[in-house]
Amino acid sequence: MGAVRELLAVRLGDVVVDCTVGLGGHARALGDLAGAAGTLIGLDVDPENLSIAERTLSGCAADVHLVRSSFADLANVLRSLGVTGVDVLFADLGVSSTQLDRAERGFSFQREGLLDMRMDPDLKLTAADIVNSLKDRELGDLLYYNSQETASRRIAKRICEHRREQRITSTTQLARIVADAIGVDPHSRKSRIHPATRTFQALRIAVNDEIGNLGKLLDAAPDLLRPAGRFGVIAFHSIEDKPVKLDFRRRKTERVYRIVTKKPLTADDEERRDNPRSRSAKLRVAVKLPEPAAVGEFDS
Ligand SMILES: C[S@@+](CC[C@H](N)C(=O)[O-])C[C@H]1O[C@@H](n2cnc3c(N)ncnc32)[C@H](O)[C@@H]1O
Repeated sequence: MGAVRELLAVRLGDVVVDCTVGLGGHARALGDLAGAAGTLIGLDVDPENLSIAERTLSGCAADVHLVRSSFADLANVLRSLGVTGVDVLFADLGVSSTQLDRAERGFSFQREGLLDMRMDPDLKLTAADIVNSLKDRELGDLLYYNSQETASRRIAKRICEHRREQRITSTTQLARIVADAIGVDPHSRKSRIHPATRTFQALRIAVNDEIGNLGKLLDAAPDLLRPAGRFGVIAFHSIEDKPVKLDFRRRKTERVYRIVTKKPLTADDEERRDNPRSRSAKLRVAVKLPEPAAVGEFDS
């Protein structure tokens, strides 16, 4: 949080967009820095999180607008609000603690629930639809490309064998099938991460089209940012971090951005202690050119 505040350097009167408002923690900090003359626009696809964010942001110093929308559609959201330029654009990608912790949302292999994984409850396709309908090869590809699961073929084969007997409907059922396919006991001390971690990540990314949406945000950002506007993205795994890194690098060579974080910033010890999920978070920040005066580059 400290690094986000420092590197996004919100000034009084700024227009701040939090693309993934979640529970509103980051948004509140950024909105307060923008002050009474500032504007905070928070987007999320999850209506439950938006209502939590509404409470977190009550009394925020800035003028707050919360919008239920994907950040893939940010340009239209800003147009409908009459906003013509953004000073600070921020996205904290992935799932929120509320989504992971609530068994019925189906994100966690540790909690018995329906295999759902939709962040936006209006999406048509659930994770159960995917595991019960894709062909063996398509499923293997999805697991490999969305999570670099090296046992993707074995897992896909076992899922297809299993579903011939019985539809796969629950989180723990899928977790058992995956552990069995890999031949790893999830309770053994030897397994560093749960064997189903990557499979669940891959399915979640597919259900919510996370890479497609991120690509649309990265494409739209340069036209939405004002000169000297700052763009920060937190990613939790390389599948999301890599497109951000490549986009920032390409736009640096095109003289569209200056990269502030030569290396991505990771959580400090205190943050890791307070929030174990922050261990794999990587923050990258870029500034839209031209900027009036160069600010020093920041290394981790
Ligand atoms: C890691 S959480 C953000 C937490 C937030 N920074 C906070 O302080 O509470 C990610 C949030 O992004 C939302 N989200 C995921 N994909 C989205 C998208 N394409 N558009 C808008 N929100 C999205 C999720 O529903 C979730 O609430």
